[in-house]
Amino acid sequence: MTLNERLTSYSALVEAKLSDYLRPQKDSGQGIVYEACRYSAMAGGKRLRPALVLEFCRLSGGHIEAALPFACALEMIHTYSLIHDDLPCMDDDDLRRGKPTNHKVYGEAIAVLAGDGLLNLAFETASDPANTLRVPAEVQLRAVRVLSRASGMDGMIGGQILDMQAEEHPISREQLRTLQELKTGALICAAAQLGCLIGGATAEQEAAALEYARCIGLAFQIQDDILDIEGDEAALGKPIGSDAENGKSTYPSLLGLERCHALVDELSEQASAALKPFSDTGMLPELAMSLASRKS
Ligand code: IPE
Ligand code: IPE
Ligand code: MG
Ligand code: MG
Ligand code: MG
Repeated sequence: MTLNERLTSYSALVEAKLSDYLRPQKDSGQGIVYEACRYSAMAGGKRLRPALVLEFCRLSGGHIEAALPFACALEMIHTYSLIHDDLPCMDDDDLRRGKPTNHKVYGEAIAVLAGDGLLNLAFETASDPANTLRVPAEVQLRAVRVLSRASGMDGMIGGQILDMQAEEHPISREQLRTLQELKTGALICAAAQLGCLIGGATAEQEAAALEYARCIGLAFQIQDDILDIEGDEAALGKPIGSDAENGKSTYPSLLGLERCHALVDELSEQASAALKPFSDTGMLPELAMSLASRKS
């Protein structure tokens, strides 16, 4: 299977399952918040994080069906982070996944609640025994903890705080790395770790997966920052120039574009080199290399 075929097949699995999870079990008048959640969650997106969960599970010897609820939970958390990231009190952006942002369509109050709703649904999904029949309770509990920590104050939320604090205020390369590793890296590392946990990877494989994810997470955010300058809004499905407008501290603002391109290449190679403990590395090396040329 080519990289694109595998990514497409993972996206199809994730989207079908996400759509099931995002239906109200009983409509007591709260349907609007489900509609707002579906609006953002079903709007496409690359589905990178769930694909990593499924691929690491497969390469660790597990069944991808067992990892699917966790892959969907992670995508719900990622989608919530995007809805909140776009709010006027944060990046104040109007376009996401090729469509007007959630608050532009539903208003700020519903957008905040849709984000909160997705976060809660993620944990309901990951902890529901009915969704995780193939996963031992002990592994499920560890997986829920991985999700919580990666999304929280020592993960994505922590990174968003650092990102806001660094607006209009230069920071060192070391501080920027910490910011990016938390803001974007934490959920990408969680994806790798969840796949390994559900698939039954060895400790050595899990460490390798985390190193791979750390490298591609950083490369992914540097490329995101590059595309905010050099990208095409239609291909990207979100505005360009948002970082400069908000005075963000980014790798291009610190190092310049040329060094950033080189850094993305270097990190992609470093990511693939980390995968030695896996006898089959599946789509992972090609996925890492594709990050440097991604346009969306
Ligand atoms: C956007 O993530 C936010 C970042 C962490 C850079 P993605 O680029 O994965 O967004 P989607 O899921 O494809 O929309
Ligand atoms: C946000 O980073 C990462 C999140 C935790 C949502 P950005 O603010 O750079 O993401 P985009 O460019 O809006 O997708
Ligand atoms: Mg942001
Ligand atoms: Mg943003
Ligand atoms: Mg960005």
